[in-house]
Amino acid sequence: MLKVIAPGKCILFGEHSVVYGYPAIAMALGINSTCKIKRISHNQLRLHLKDYDRTFNFSSIREIRSKFPQEFKNFQVGFLSVIDRYGIDVLGMEVQISSDLFMGGGLGSSASTAVALMGGLGSFFDLDLDKAQISDLAYNMEKIVHGNPSGIDNTICTNGNILIYQNKQFQTLENIPHSNFLITYTNMDHSTKVAVEKVANLKQQRPEYVNKIFRTIGKVTDKAEKVLKRGNIAKLGDLMNKNQELLTKLGVSNRQIKKINKISLKNGLYGSKLTGAGLGGCVIGI
Ligand code: PMV
Repeated sequence: MLKVIAPGKCILFGEHSVVYGYPAIAMALGINSTCKIKRISHNQLRLHLKDYDRTFNFSSIREIRSKFPQEFKNFQVGFLSVIDRYGIDVLGMEVQISSDLFMGGGLGSSASTAVALMGGLGSFFDLDLDKAQISDLAYNMEKIVHGNPSGIDNTICTNGNILIYQNKQFQTLENIPHSNFLITYTNMDHSTKVAVEKVANLKQQRPEYVNKIFRTIGKVTDKAEKVLKRGNIAKLGDLMNKNQELLTKLGVSNRQIKKINKISLKNGLYGSKLTGAGLGGCVIGI
């Protein structure tokens, strides 16, 4: 049996504007998604999605193409991309996918399961995939879930650590001093697709207003990179609060997020902002 894990993530600065080519900073979490693969005697692909308590059996590649349930189309895309790109035969194996991250929380559950699956298939079939190839394959799966992803989620879930990302390029931030973060769930799951579309609609209606916000978020993120390296937590908190204000102007905050921000700051945190797409999901504080 082969087991591959990939970490979840949270975005520290720059969500949404990153979709339009501005920089964003993301860090990996110590909470993972797992893909387990083993050979079975039946000439089938057995896919077990543990968190959904669902198992699917496919008896041929044709069935994988035609009988995959629509709600899990991202996994179909994952299997078909390795089948078509590398000519492998995925029959005679069982693939189990699970995640310790809760779904819809903005902590990278979809990206990390995609990375774990692609990394798992790559290892199982000795495809010798490097991280860029694994990330690229996971990105194809993410497109199904999110529509127009920037690529930051699959990049951080593949490479781990803490990184700054812009236009499909990234740089790992080295020697970042230790800080404590608090992640709070709003108790509302969110859809990245809906939030990204909301921003896209606002951009269409008020392009100058939205572009100005994106540029300002870009500047906040650039400053945050320097401040992170210096380990100045108070200043980092100020920048997080500024980023939150700008995200509110983009229309992706809500009452629950605002309430968590308020409680966090009142209780001594330096900064608090939504992380990920917003409209629910999680809030990160420092
Ligand atoms: O899926 P989430 O909640 O982690 O959000 C991803 C971050 C966005 O910037 C909103 C979308 C993207 O593709 O970068």
